[in-house]
Amino acid sequence: MKKAFITGITGQDGSYLAEFLLDKGYKVYGLTRRTSTQNFERIKQIVHHPNLQLVSGDLIDQHSLTYAIKQIRPDEVYNLAAQSFVQASWEQPVLTGEFTALGVTRMLEAIRLGYPKAKFYQASSSEMFGKVREVPQKETTPFYPRSPYGVAKVYGHWITVNYRESFNLFAVSGILFNHESPRRGLEFVTRKIANAIARIKLGKQKYVELGNLDAKRDWGYAKDYVQAMWLMLQQDEPDDYVVATGETHSVREFLQLACQAAGISDWQSVYKHNPKFDRPAEVDLLVGDPTKAKKKLGWKPSVDFEGLVKLMVEAELEMERES
Ligand code: NAP
Ligand code: GDD
Repeated sequence: MKKAFITGITGQDGSYLAEFLLDKGYKVYGLTRRTSTQNFERIKQIVHHPNLQLVSGDLIDQHSLTYAIKQIRPDEVYNLAAQSFVQASWEQPVLTGEFTALGVTRMLEAIRLGYPKAKFYQASSSEMFGKVREVPQKETTPFYPRSPYGVAKVYGHWITVNYRESFNLFAVSGILFNHESPRRGLEFVTRKIANAIARIKLGKQKYVELGNLDAKRDWGYAKDYVQAMWLMLQQDEPDDYVVATGETHSVREFLQLACQAAGISDWQSVYKHNPKFDRPAEVDLLVGDPTKAKKKLGWKPSVDFEGLVKLMVEAELEMERES
């Protein structure tokens, strides 16, 4: 039985990846950190699965990581844990650097010292392209991060490449563009809009307050993206890949389509601008070129932009009707 170790298992991607690997017959170990209340909402369906084991630790605590790797001796390690909210990275830049940047080195050290045969996946991000140097962005596009989060991810990316080249580890970096789902945190713009529009439709809320509607993102479906992570670790050679849909849409388009999906005819009547949600430095346009992932991994997205908005709004309508 293959063994996988996932950091960030309680997050959006970690929960989908754990389900995907359990279905494939893996024994899955998930790192969870101590919190005053348990945060198992996204893994509630699998938490009692006989092939899932939760392991206590934190990206800031080297010993907990090294101990876990030594004990488990995993075939595959997916480092998905991070302070992942861009806006919060201006409020907590040092903590973001500790988790999202240095946390990667701690994981790599744990593998180097504890079980160097493990294959390692690093959750890199399109945020590294920031103020984009070319359109669309591909594996060779230079980075120009625009937030402490983006800067931390650039560090995580290069330390992964460096450990691959220095210590011959099977370490890969997946440069994933935005991917969403009904399990997205409520603070991210897609889930925030989908949830607010459902609540407005049901008469529970009047407006949705947003920042910059002009920002454009390449949005895909999270379930598709965790498959790409796994495919990267099944290759003969470690390499880095862009994972994206190749299409870009504005926040405004997301809002308009969400209103349409809920049967709200005038999107402007339910929207207010709130400068609180504007960012000190914005990433205006992201659009990825997934040619390499399609060709080498045989990966392709199964849900388009319209389908994604629809599935997220429908999920929120169902949840809000029940609550
Ligand atoms: P998420 O929902 O915010 O999940 C983050 C996970 O990291 C949670 O399980 C969280 O645990 C855990 N975590 C945070 N700090 C930790 C620490 N110090 N020690 C241990 N665990 C810690 O993020 P996501 O959307 O699933 O994204 C997964 C990864 O992909 C992240 O690294 C993110 O930066 C990256 N990424 C995401 C996207 C995207 O569009 N979703 C795109 C590119 C890259 P708690 O539940 O305890 O908070
Ligand atoms: N969150 C949020 N809230 N964003 C808003 C709002 C709002 O009220 N109004 C407008 N936006 C704009 C932001 O300014 C940004 O341009 C865009 O919506 C997307 O914001 P987020 O959904 O917070 O995601 P992100 O693109 O900053 O970051 C996500 O994607 C990255 C990959 O490119 C996160 O998942 C990162 O962890 C990930 O690396």
